[in-house]
Amino acid sequence: MKKTPARLSMIATRLSAALVLLPILAHAAAIDMQANKDRFVDSLLAQMTLQEKVGQLRMEYAGAQPNPQAMLDTIASGQVGAMFTAPTASQAGLRELQDAAVQRSRLRIPLFFAGDVVHGQRTIFPINLGQASSWDLQAIGKSARVAALEATADGLDMTFAPMLDISRDPRWGRISEGYGEDTYLVSRIAGTVIRALQGPTLGASDSLMACAKHFAGYGAVEGGRDYNTSDMSERRLVEEYLPPFKAALDAGAGAVMTALTSLNGVPATANSWLLHDILRQQWQFKGLVISDHGAVEELIAHGVAEDGNQAALAALAAGTQMSMSDRYFARGLTSLVKQGQVTEQQLDSAVRQVLATKYDLGLFEAPYRRLQPGSGPDNEARRQHRAHARDMARRSLVLLKNHDEVLPLSRHATLALIGPLADNAVDILGSWHANGEAEQAVTLRQGLQSGQAADARLLYAKGANISDNPQAFALLADNRVNFDPRPAETLRAEAVAAAQQADVVVVALGEARGMSHEGASRTELNLPGQQRALLRALKGTGKPLVLVLMNGRPLTISEESQWADAVLETWFSGSEGGNAIADVLFGAYNPSGKLPVTFPRSVGQIPLYYNHLNTGRPFDPARPAAYRSRYYDIDDTPLYPFGHGLSYTSFSVSSPRLSSTRLQAGQGLQVQVTVRNEGMRAGETVVQLYIRDRRASVSRPVKELKGFDKLLLSPGQTREVTLHLPASAFSFVDRNLRWVVEPGWFDVMVGLDSQTVQTTSFELMP
Ligand code: NOJ
Repeated sequence: MKKTPARLSMIATRLSAALVLLPILAHAAAIDMQANKDRFVDSLLAQMTLQEKVGQLRMEYAGAQPNPQAMLDTIASGQVGAMFTAPTASQAGLRELQDAAVQRSRLRIPLFFAGDVVHGQRTIFPINLGQASSWDLQAIGKSARVAALEATADGLDMTFAPMLDISRDPRWGRISEGYGEDTYLVSRIAGTVIRALQGPTLGASDSLMACAKHFAGYGAVEGGRDYNTSDMSERRLVEEYLPPFKAALDAGAGAVMTALTSLNGVPATANSWLLHDILRQQWQFKGLVISDHGAVEELIAHGVAEDGNQAALAALAAGTQMSMSDRYFARGLTSLVKQGQVTEQQLDSAVRQVLATKYDLGLFEAPYRRLQPGSGPDNEARRQHRAHARDMARRSLVLLKNHDEVLPLSRHATLALIGPLADNAVDILGSWHANGEAEQAVTLRQGLQSGQAADARLLYAKGANISDNPQAFALLADNRVNFDPRPAETLRAEAVAAAQQADVVVVALGEARGMSHEGASRTELNLPGQQRALLRALKGTGKPLVLVLMNGRPLTISEESQWADAVLETWFSGSEGGNAIADVLFGAYNPSGKLPVTFPRSVGQIPLYYNHLNTGRPFDPARPAAYRSRYYDIDDTPLYPFGHGLSYTSFSVSSPRLSSTRLQAGQGLQVQVTVRNEGMRAGETVVQLYIRDRRASVSRPVKELKGFDKLLLSPGQTREVTLHLPASAFSFVDRNLRWVVEPGWFDVMVGLDSQTVQTTSFELMP
């Protein structure tokens, strides 16, 4: 048929009608799906006994061998709703548990399986603090997608991740699990990770439901001591600690985990302001709220419940719907309902939520959808994603110092590789290493060996233990440690002898993975044990000294960073860590990481973070004076600021140009800068955009990150970068806990770290 103009216009009209209809149809389909789900859940609920309902609210722990008969019988009697599984649990074992639920229980309601897949399942990526150092949302998203693929193939339906706790206290061991100190950066990562884990639809067999944790305020435990109290103004909480959770929910997170801690005196698990007023009412969260491990029971120790029954009552009434590693929902809820202290309606609403979660996960349709029998051993190489692990790890490394361009190293040089973390496949995986196996991790020694030219030599000596006292690890949850019993002097002398024969000394120092983990808080943040003495002795050889740090938190390394010619922060870099670090040391990859957290000079400065308030008496290092807010016994700046990270090339950034210097209320702003690679190597950098609201009804931070862009430039290349500030970027939480925008002058700052920035300003009109 000929395409006459009349016919073309008819096609166009029909097309545009279809385009208008599409969203309406999609909306109608969504309503339909929701109605189907509600019908299904309601009809199931109507058939359930009281005991069966209580059973759905319980998550039980299945160890690595999850098959004791008693557990199977409990499941078959309908008293378990979900299993918390060890990441190493065998699929056959999980299937047996599911068999008990769907073949033996009266209503055949499937279980869902959840576990801690925090930075990878079989392929282990850098710890999250490391991933955040990449400022590379695409790479972080890909890592989360891989984790979802592997975890669902291993039988999991849900991960207890991501951890979205903002933390400004490196004494807290769990700072390693999060994405750093900054609300904006963590929020961007939160959305990315949720979308990647859950995929386009939760029912897909490779979609892993996320459980954003720990709601809320856990990262602010006093003194950085784990499980301690958090107490802060509600204004600060709402503005700085909650937005990453909101971002996670906006991205569709299916579940939220309550914190073990109390917030402003009320334990999170019994905190109806958090779980009801904010989560349900303000944010309209429609997903599942799970307690952290044993958190219901701990309400007794917190002193807000007399006994198990009161604890169960307080948790459920506040909005905790499922109890992890439950004791007291099982023991108390049935009688609480019978006595009328918990209404059927309260109980039903929690049960409905659990059933809806299983429905969303596609489990009623196919209970074994993530339990397909795999072939071959679980961690077989072909079931891993090593190329991406190497890529993610390289992007996570932060070059803190590079004096006289000691890095990159020549592939032909004789290297002395020293240190307790140099040939250590256990610690490089980090804590929460899920199903990752040390035997499959690449150590730095292996990485350097494969990166060196054929004519090069690699000398090795351990030099020191991580800690002098193996007993120091005994009470840590993750306490595997390799201890060399020889005297410290012998180990050190061996290392110095190796160093003396080398062109360059590479020394890998830091922490054992268990030292930056749950329950692993420190009062000192130095290099533990004899490692400092080792570094000093190596400095004494006069050889160029490259310090490779492996650790899960900022360390206080003021002196050490002076002794070393170069310092590379590698965190715990995962399965491909050794190769990735070698890629950076030899220059096969130009480092691009930027710190997501401030490095203090001393523990006494903590909390030290870039987006602090100005105070009434700010200290100005350029004009020192008495009666200023400072410590008189230390340089008040951080050792390394938030956003810091060097490259083997150098970049220049122009001062920012604004699309307008007078904004009407509700308007956004375009900020443009010219970035140029001034050096001889291609490299990536992160352009960071900060603002300051000069005057408002409450004090505003001296800087707040509001945008960033990571870009790759070849030598001499110039790029115009445009960063968009939406109108919401200018808002803050006022004294009445409302997000508001107030007119006035704002500074706009752009730089390659949070300290060295170029500033311009605009006025927001009333
Ligand atoms: C306690 C931790 O706080 C939480 O993050 C974790 O998911 C659970 N244990 C389960 O391992």
